[in-house]
This record gives sequence, structure tokens and C-alpha cells, in this order.
Amino acid sequence: MTDLDSFIARLPKAELHLHIEGSLEPELMFALAKRNGVSIPYTSVEDVRAAYAFSNLQDFLDIYYAGASVLVTEADFHDLAMAYFDRAAADGVIHAEIMFDPQTHTDRGVAFDTVIRGLLSAMAGAETKHGMTCALIMCFLRHLSEQAAFETLAMAEPWLGTIAAVGLDSSEVGHPPSKFARVYAAARAKGLKLVAHAGEEGPPEYVHEALDLLHVDRIDHGNRALEDPVLVERLAREGMTLTVCPLSNLKLCVVGDLADHPIDRMLAQGLKATVNSDDPAYFGGYVADNYRAIAAARGLSQDVLATLARNSFTGSFLPPETIARHLASIDAYLAGS
Ligand code: HPA
Ligand code: ZN
Repeated sequence: MTDLDSFIARLPKAELHLHIEGSLEPELMFALAKRNGVSIPYTSVEDVRAAYAFSNLQDFLDIYYAGASVLVTEADFHDLAMAYFDRAAADGVIHAEIMFDPQTHTDRGVAFDTVIRGLLSAMAGAETKHGMTCALIMCFLRHLSEQAAFETLAMAEPWLGTIAAVGLDSSEVGHPPSKFARVYAAARAKGLKLVAHAGEEGPPEYVHEALDLLHVDRIDHGNRALEDPVLVERLAREGMTLTVCPLSNLKLCVVGDLADHPIDRMLAQGLKATVNSDDPAYFGGYVADNYRAIAAARGLSQDVLATLARNSFTGSFLPPETIARHLASIDAYLAGS
């Protein structure tokens, strides 16, 4: 491990953009397929990894939804999330806000309660085992209808006390934020925080819509906002957090080369960018891998990496006094390193 690698691994950080279904490693996919008698179209772990070559978001989504079919019981969701928390803790993650896609499961007959009970028990486990705090973000699949999103929000009703926010993911182009304006208004009325994927493949206009029509607290990705200087100025002025995912951007061809990744340009323009792993099992790295890859590709200093980590706390849904404590722990870490 280089000095920078160990600096990154021990830097206190939050992860704000992580799809728990995207942390399903091929080894666990095989184990769960066997446990549940589900057939998958792969003969080996190597075979699965070889299938992970994507040329766009949809290529990935097709494989990601197929992989999720091995998740059936509450124990499966627990094991999936616990494996993520163990891995994240090793990467210096002390707070994780994880997304899940209930419709991927309810649409194939797995009960909402089964999914959320498994995730919540793993979150409790992460707190006791690793001292990590966690929050849950329930995502709507944007390729499905507004009606289906409303039905999902209704299923979540008994669990609202355990859900921090709603999010919007899946196929972006052709499914603008405006499609979900009424669902987001309903979620907001229930006291939920709001995030949405915007500007990953979709145009800057979708980022405008996420702000103006969904009233989001955070933008997931947001890369294409950089094409619109007025939007950049607004995001900076409003202190809007962007949950950027460098290895995801590379694997889904949002950037051609990490050497051209805009993360430091975002910071230079006053944007509150953070570093996250998105779907680590599919994109080749957890959060520290993302910090390491982007630090190497863009020659980022320890100070810049610490700014990215600070942004992960200021952009989180933690209470202000907890955020202040975590920022102080970054200062203490820098002073001691
Ligand atoms: N974009 C959109 N939907 C997703 C993603 C993503 O990066 N990961 C999982 N679902
Ligand atoms: Zn994502």
C-alpha cells in the first residue's frame, strides 16, 4: 500500500450513492442462486465477471436486474447488505446512505416487507459491529409508471420511520424527472428527503427539472450539468451536493478515460462533489477504490481528497451536530497524518 492508499483507507468518509443490489458480488450471486434454486445464465464466477463489459447504462441495467433475481428471502437481503457494510467499514466509511429498488423485487413476487426487514437488520448489524451509522433511500424505477411509483410509496407507508429519503434510478433518457413530480410532492409531504439520478446520461435539462420540479436535496451523478454554465452557477450557489461515481462513469462510458474525469473541475467551479461507488460489484471497486482511482488519474492531493470526504458529510442527511463531529474527525486525522 502506498502512503496515499493508506491515507485514503483511513480518511473518515460517508458513502451517499450506493445501490445495495449493485453490491452483489458474483460469489454471493452463485451462493444465493444455489440456496434458492434460482438458475442464472452463468457457469462460473469468471463467466459472470466477463459479462461485465458495458457500453452504456442500459447494458448494465439489463445484467443488474437479472442478477437481482437470486435475492429472495429476508436472509438474502441481510447477507447482501452485511457484505457491503463489512467492505465499506474496511474502506473507512463511517456513515452510509444506501439505496434499494423495491420494485425490482416486488414485481417478481418478493414482498416489500421481506426486502426491508433484511436490509434493516443488516443496518442494525453495521451499527453494532462497525459503529457505522446508516440510512435507507428507497428508489423508484423511472422506466416504470408514475402509478407504480405511487403504489411503491403506499407499500412503504408502515416503514416510513425507517426510510430517510426517496430516489429515482434506472434508465434515465426518455424518463425525465417531470414524470415523477407528483410522487415526489407526496413523498415530501410525508417528511422524506429527496434525491434523484440526473445528468448521468440525461441532458442538463433533467438536472434543472430535478431541482425545479422534484425539489431534490441532492443530485446523484450530475456530470452533464457541466454542459450548462448557468446551471453550474446555480448548483454552486445553492450548495447542492453531487454524488459522483468515478469508476461507474468509466464503466458506463459517461467518461472515456478517468484521466478526463471532471471531479476536480467540479470542485474548482464551487460544486459540492463527493466520491461514491454506485454499484461496486459491477464497476470494479468500492469507495476507497474510487478515491484511489480518481486520485491517481487526476493527481489529486490529500487536501482535495479531504475536501471530497468533507463534502460527503455536509451532503449527508445526518443531524448538523453529527456532521460537525465528523468534520472535526477529518481535521484531527489531517493534523495527525
Ligand atoms: N444509474 C441509474 N440507475 C442505476 C444505477 C445508475 O448508475 N445503478 C443502479 N441503478
Ligand atoms: Zn446510481
